[in-house]
Amino acid sequence: MFFRKKQKKVDLSRPVPTHIAIVMDGNGRWAKMRGLPRQAGHKVGAEAFRTIANYAKSIGLKYLTVYAFSTENWKRSEEEVDAIMELLERYLREAIADMDKNRVRFCFFGDLTRLSPELQEEARIAVERSKKYAGVQVNFCLNYGGRDEIVRAAQSFACDCIEGKCRPEELTEAMLSERMFSAGVPDPELVIRPGGELRTSNFLLWQSAYAEYYFTDVLWPDFTPEELEKAIASFNGRNRRFGGAK
Ligand code: FPP
Repeated sequence: MFFRKKQKKVDLSRPVPTHIAIVMDGNGRWAKMRGLPRQAGHKVGAEAFRTIANYAKSIGLKYLTVYAFSTENWKRSEEEVDAIMELLERYLREAIADMDKNRVRFCFFGDLTRLSPELQEEARIAVERSKKYAGVQVNFCLNYGGRDEIVRAAQSFACDCIEGKCRPEELTEAMLSERMFSAGVPDPELVIRPGGELRTSNFLLWQSAYAEYYFTDVLWPDFTPEELEKAIASFNGRNRRFGGAK
């Protein structure tokens, strides 16, 4: 049983970015510090995600993208991979059951074909049934890698060239964007990485070209709406120039 702290009143007058992306890092260390197996950290991490997704909806965020499982995470022990997959399955089953209450639109970035047939089916149902909701969209990055995504987009364009649909010199950034898992989703303005590591770890490489990064030592299971507010406040205090002059 985990008790949530009473949430502070939020100043809703501040601007909220349209799209926030999060690397949910630090679950393993959170568990280790408590003498628990890594899986216990992922379990509390999944709860933290639930809280943050609800909060994101309440403040009017349009897109929330989370790194749930990378193309590199298959290197972890079978036990840990199975535990993460089970958490995702359980989460999706519950999300599908509560869909009309939560009204969250679901989307998945990544090659889902390597996932279990059950998880693939749940992802498919979640996407299909939630299409009608107009509020927040949650993008789960599952078996996702930024480089893998760019390679797939390049392959798709190359195939179109071979089929005579376009020529190499016609390629634009927009044409590659349309071939990413994130097609149609605006780029994230803010990428948050809890867990104390200062790297991007193959997350949204194409989409984050002009994102602002926010790093914090707080481990993901301890990441609360207050932490999200700190990240948004930091973002709002920055001068975004997109390569222009000061
Ligand atoms: C990174 O922390 C976290 C992951 C690789 C898995 C993230 C998965 C979840 C939070 C559960 C997914 C479920 C839902 C419903 C979203 P780490 O294990 O690398 O932590 P460490 O750096 O401390 O070892």
